[in-house]
Amino acid sequence: MDQTLLLSVLLSQLCWSVSLDLQYHFIDKKMSWSEAQSHCREQHTDLASVNDMKDLKNLKAAANGRTDAWIGLHQTSDNLTDRKWHWSQPTVRYKEGDSPWKQGEPNDDRGTENCGMMDSDGLWNDHYCRTPHCFICYNDSSNTTVMINDATNPRTWLKAQQFCRTHHTDLMSGLDQYKLFQKQNLTLPSRCWIGLFRDTWGWSDRSDSSFRNWNTWLNFSYCMCSVLFLSTTPKTNLKGSFVLVKENKTWEEALIHCRHNYRDLAWSIDIESLKQEVQADIRDANSEFVWIGLHFACFFEAWVWVDGKYVPETNENWKERGGSECGHVAAVERGGDKKWVKKNFMDKYNFICMRR
Ligand SMILES: *[C@@H]1O[C@H](CO)[C@@H](O)[C@H](O)[C@H]1NC(C)=O
Ligand SMILES: *[C@@H]1O[C@H](CO)[C@@H](O)[C@H](O)[C@H]1NC(C)=O
Ligand SMILES: *[C@@H]1O[C@H](CO)[C@@H](O)[C@H](O)[C@H]1NC(C)=O
Ligand SMILES: *[C@@H]1O[C@H](CO)[C@@H](O)[C@H](O)[C@H]1NC(C)=O
Ligand SMILES: *[C@@H]1O[C@H](CO)[C@@H](O)[C@H](O)[C@H]1NC(C)=O
Ligand SMILES: *[C@@H]1O[C@H](CO)[C@@H](O)[C@H](O)[C@H]1NC(C)=O
Repeated sequence: MDQTLLLSVLLSQLCWSVSLDLQYHFIDKKMSWSEAQSHCREQHTDLASVNDMKDLKNLKAAANGRTDAWIGLHQTSDNLTDRKWHWSQPTVRYKEGDSPWKQGEPNDDRGTENCGMMDSDGLWNDHYCRTPHCFICYNDSSNTTVMINDATNPRTWLKAQQFCRTHHTDLMSGLDQYKLFQKQNLTLPSRCWIGLFRDTWGWSDRSDSSFRNWNTWLNFSYCMCSVLFLSTTPKTNLKGSFVLVKENKTWEEALIHCRHNYRDLAWSIDIESLKQEVQADIRDANSEFVWIGLHFACFFEAWVWVDGKYVPETNENWKERGGSECGHVAAVERGGDKKWVKKNFMDKYNFICMRR
């Protein structure tokens, strides 16, 4: 996969019209995700759905090299109780109740666990998607399951999915493939990833497709209302200077404002750089807190900068954390020690953009 899906709050949009194969139209206008959705529903059918790798290829062809466009994938809820299990292979539907979960699983044992594994006894449990493990692919053309146990290169769930889609068909999905696996008498060295994942994302046209194609090099997906698409190169790491915008906006409005008028909502900004580069500015804010470009990516269960970098669990810039983090974003205090504070994304504060 040369191109990977990338969250990006801006630019154009992809609509589709009904026909046997989805027909994509690239709309070269700048709108918010909701505006784009209305536009597509009025002028075409809906924001683009992407149901499999073949659709993705057609979508890229319609985009013709242009990047950063909305598609119909969006987060339908930020409440963890609304997560639904899916199989990675989009043609396979997950059915409640007929799955060999280990007793008591899935249980979000250590927080939020969104990916599924198989134990050496053949039973399933949920686990953090970010941990590297062996994994089981399904190969359509040979109608076999394949266990990949590369001790020197264990993979996170997403990387395992990418590997299976490149070299085979997909991660092992559904009970038929599971039965095939059992027939083959493969012995698992330990717990391995299978094609199970859960999220609260859905398509604008309400199709039940489980197709996701999150980028792996950026390490992130993103919450709230909207998403993504098509970027070939990671953003550069060059830091620009910072600017305080003294308007009260929600976190997402602030993100869009920064991306339209400057470069981005400030990322990779810690106490030191705040002190050195923007502290004087922050004291001028007319709101008690100031947004920075840090949000919690629910699927990856991690705090992530808007440029895609993880914040390590051990980071000491936090003033308060804890509780439910899904759907939350971060701000810094105007006064005090300028540590990060977890906030609701609908709050309205001033914010810091970075210049180009
Ligand atoms: C999430 O949904 C459940 C069930 O619908 C509800 O009981 C709970 O209060 C919700 N949680 C939040 C944080 O809204
Ligand atoms: C999987 O299928 C591909 C064709 O799609 C084939 O070339 C390859 O040898 C198969 N691999 C295994 C392990 O069966
Ligand atoms: C794959 O093999 C199993 C038995 O080994 C068989 O029941 C199943 O129909 C086959 N599936 C396909 C798609 O050929
Ligand atoms: C799998 O193992 C069982 C019991 O050990 C054996 O009876 C069966 O023949 C094996 N099947 C294959 C395909 O090796
Ligand atoms: C922003 O909100 C604060 C209260 O949180 C208020 O005091 C301030 O005047 C507002 N600023 C603007 C520009 O509306
Ligand atoms: C993605 O995450 C892995 C594991 O946490 C890390 O080693 C890698 O550097 C990250 N990639 C980027 C681009 O941040």
